[in-house]
Amino acid sequence: MKVFIASDHAGFDLKESLKKRFADKFEFEDFGAFSTQSVDYPEFAHKLAQNVLDTNQYGVLICGTGNGMAMTANKHAGIRAGLCWNKDIAALIRQHNDANILVMPARFIPEETAFEILETFFATEFEGGRHQRRVEKINLV
Ligand code: RB5
Repeated sequence: MKVFIASDHAGFDLKESLKKRFADKFEFEDFGAFSTQSVDYPEFAHKLAQNVLDTNQYGVLICGTGNGMAMTANKHAGIRAGLCWNKDIAALIRQHNDANILVMPARFIPEETAFEILETFFATEFEGGRHQRRVEKINLV
């Protein structure tokens, strides 16, 4: 399965760890950043979000708090980017929100937690039903 991934400088180390840890499970397409040199997170979030929309695949965004990436990605109609700091939330953003982008706060979660979050996100299906109606209402405003 192909997964788009991007970070800013604050998320760079975690992005690299995730790619290494899940190399045998996912085919990552990395949109940067490619070092810990300071960059602007919106550039990476916009690029990844557009690719998720164009190909109907999933993405992972990482910055210091996760909030800048989530705020930016969610400007794109059709993107549902959810900020996760534990695996239960990772499951719920798939089950209830049909999230197509997973966002993680590199400066606030241990690496092992990030591994659990990513694994859970990709192992969990959208539940549909009443959640389908709610997800459809996200883009009405
Ligand atoms: C970078 O210092 C930091 O602002 C960024 O990674 C992120 O937390 C923004 O939301």
